[in-house]
Amino acid sequence: MSDARASAEFHPQTPNEARVLDYLLGGKDNFAADRQAAEEAIAVAPELPMMAIEGRKFLGRAVRFLIDQGIRQFIDIGCGLPTQNNAHEVAQAAAEDARVLYVDYDPVVVTHARAILAERARTGVIQADMREPEVILAHPDLRRLIDLDQPVAVLLMSAFSAIPEDEVAQDIVDRLREAIVPGSWMAISHPISDDRAAATEKLASLFQDTQIVTGSRRRNDIRRRADVEPYFEGLELAEPGVVRLPAWRPDPGEPSVDPESVWVIAGVGRKAVS
Ligand SMILES: C[S@@+](CC[C@H](N)C(=O)[O-])C[C@H]1O[C@@H](n2cnc3c(N)ncnc32)[C@H](O)[C@@H]1O
Repeated sequence: MSDARASAEFHPQTPNEARVLDYLLGGKDNFAADRQAAEEAIAVAPELPMMAIEGRKFLGRAVRFLIDQGIRQFIDIGCGLPTQNNAHEVAQAAAEDARVLYVDYDPVVVTHARAILAERARTGVIQADMREPEVILAHPDLRRLIDLDQPVAVLLMSAFSAIPEDEVAQDIVDRLREAIVPGSWMAISHPISDDRAAATEKLASLFQDTQIVTGSRRRNDIRRRADVEPYFEGLELAEPGVVRLPAWRPDPGEPSVDPESVWVIAGVGRKAVS
């Protein structure tokens, strides 16, 4: 199954979520179709580039928090194209011995990540489908870098937009949480449509044509908070719980945006040590 799925294809003429996100973040690893899709989306929701940046800032704060909790191993699933403040840069700046394994299913993401990480110690990247957590966790490249007998942090940052089925997304979280040892952590973020019904409906329909690397149909709406909260069940949430990105442990003095203007929620939780 994983070998067949690992043949995700490269279509530069079809917008692709990793490359659209790269464009929103001001990156250069995108094509005309991605830029057009991103501009159409920005016309509907001008806050999208700001939200993308807030997503990367949350990733940085979460990784530093996890380093402070003693975590030295990270698995970043649905990692996206390498950009600034990638998990390994943040983690290894805070703790040189931190190890980071990136996972994405998109061949463009994986090729770029491999090129950037070629010389980098304690960092790896694998092409794998998050719908198969056991395949990810058994991958020899993961096993070379990550000791699953020790606590680990699993990062799922805006990773579920390409997983249309609620039960599949929940199953991915559940199986990963089951597999990691007590004392491990999960950090999850997800956009929500609760107070942006009109805009998010338009965005969902715009993104219908975006290529999903797994070949699934994209869902025609964006999940609501009540759909996302169950992902955190079974975890002891760090303060302040599941909140909008800018409200999650903002750095002192950080110029902050109004949390209410960001329709992405996130939380970081630990698998209890019983
Ligand atoms: C919205 S991007 C998020 C990127 C990054 N985590 C961030 O927040 O900046 C979602 C990523 O998930 C990847 N992805 C989609 N479906 C996947 C799957 N089934 N398995 C692994 N990665 C997948 C996409 O290729 C894309 O890079």
